Amino acid sequence: MQKIRASITAIGACLPDYILDNTELEKMVDTNNEWILSRTGISERRILKGEGMGTSEMGAGAVRMLLEKRGITAEDIDLIICATTTPDHQFPATANIIADKVGIKNAFGFDINAACSGFLFSLTTASQFIETGKYKKVIVVGGDKMSSIVDYTDRTTCVLFGDAAAAVLLEPDTEGFGIQDSILKSDGAGRTFLRQKAGGSAYPASMETVMNREHYVYQEGQTVFKFAVKGMADVSAEIMERNNLTGDDVAWLVPHQANKRIIDATRDRMGVSNDKVMMNIQRYGNTTNATIPLCLFEWEKQLKKGDNIILAAFGGGFTWGATYIKWAYDTK
Ligand code: ACO
Repeated sequence: MQKIRASITAIGACLPDYILDNTELEKMVDTNNEWILSRTGISERRILKGEGMGTSEMGAGAVRMLLEKRGITAEDIDLIICATTTPDHQFPATANIIADKVGIKNAFGFDINAACSGFLFSLTTASQFIETGKYKKVIVVGGDKMSSIVDYTDRTTCVLFGDAAAAVLLEPDTEGFGIQDSILKSDGAGRTFLRQKAGGSAYPASMETVMNREHYVYQEGQTVFKFAVKGMADVSAEIMERNNLTGDDVAWLVPHQANKRIIDATRDRMGVSNDKVMMNIQRYGNTTNATIPLCLFEWEKQLKKGDNIILAAFGGGFTWGATYIKWAYDTK
């Protein structure tokens, strides 16, 4: 019998309406459009506004779109995994909240937190459930409301992030399409360079942690940049080599959108041409767990059955990885 692989069969996304552009940021902190564009490639990002609006709101929007596109109901879903660094609450899991909002009743759900690599870690986890043959329809949501943990008085981080969610449906494939391979890595020694210092069990929220602004993203940008360039490029080259792929064999590189310069370095190391690189960082910034599925969503119509696609990410933790997919469908 042919091996069961997990293939992506539908994609949905949800982007908040509000656009925070570089001009508006210039009025908030000591920065300028030229610096942001040249150092990061970002022009604007989306921000989720509204009392009580969390990551689940965007996640639910993405899942509803996905179900409609695939022509199935919420009750057909067996499992939902949410990759997020900004869950609605510490607990319960945001996956469960999304499931409730959408009407997914015959499934179990949980969250995965691997910072910006969370979508890849979740995709690989979800694919294992499909490969057992027991689960037929698994949703992976990548979503973050980064604006909820970004300090809009800190120019070194506030220009980088945006809010969004996107979701993919995984189904079994026995014709050789779908997820072929993945390499996932983490190194906790990098944990101090990119983190939210307080709010967890080590440093619970207190008046002092709030006063010290320790609930916001803290990043040592240059150090993270150095590790990200090497980590994302190395792991992308490794997955190509292990699967005997050259730059010509790769139809698309789908990189995590943290910084255009990190993406360019990965592209060069893989030997793929620029027209094969999905990049929308200029419009959305770094949406953490949403970047990769959001790219797939925006490029879906250009993807062809059989395309070799490499997904690659690097994030806090440190975490990083790459996934090799043989695309399973043409979009009419
Ligand atoms: N506007 C103007 N000047 C600025 C700004 C700004 N928004 N931010 C920083 N600067 C200044 C700095 O203060 C510094 O000034 P100084 O030389 O007078 O001290 C100068 O610009 C250079 O700062 P650097 O931090 O060295 O700038 P760099 O070129 O490294 O770019 C950046 C910063 C964009 C953050 C980069 O380091 C980066 O992309 N890092 C990696 C991000 C990443 O990949 N994160 C992982 C994923 S995120 C996740 O997992 C949640």
